[in-house]
Amino acid sequence: MDKDTIWIGNDHGGYALKERLVAYLEGHGYAVHDVGSHSTEIVRYPHYAAQVAQAVSEGRATRGILICSTGIGMSIIANKYPGVRASLCTSTYMGRMTRAHNDSNVLCLGGRITGDLEAIDILNAWLNTAYEGGRHDISLGLIGEAEGQMLTGPAWQPALPEETPTDGKAGAS
Ligand code: RB5
Repeated sequence: MDKDTIWIGNDHGGYALKERLVAYLEGHGYAVHDVGSHSTEIVRYPHYAAQVAQAVSEGRATRGILICSTGIGMSIIANKYPGVRASLCTSTYMGRMTRAHNDSNVLCLGGRITGDLEAIDILNAWLNTAYEGGRHDISLGLIGEAEGQMLTGPAWQPALPEETPTDGKAGAS
């Protein structure tokens, strides 16, 4: 797979927005690799974040998108992968600035926070803004230095989604 293919993952709370963004991206000529989940059935977001974040961390993908209900859980797990700079964005300004200043490589969105059209605006800002470099390299270098000390273990190998226990509560989300 070409590393410019955009990897995208979601949980049940992000499924509807994921479907919308995949259609938008493919309609605008982007190649997309959708790791799931593929319905609104309750799943655990770290399984899907791990696939996308590991691909970006290992350089198999240049960019990824992760969507859960709020985007928060996805950003927490994705940022544990070396080299991943996952950004939870709720505005186009954030989408633009996190590319310009943070060289963001994973965009996180909240499917129950951000409407479809706003999400598309954020996505376009994120896709079409270049990293500015310059003084921002200093901060990214420091992040790399921190990762070099703290994130040195082997990549996490999560259990398969279907092997993960759920709490079994009806109506849980
Ligand atoms: C799932 O219920 C919800 O916790 C998840 O989608 C996400 O918002 C977590 O941060």
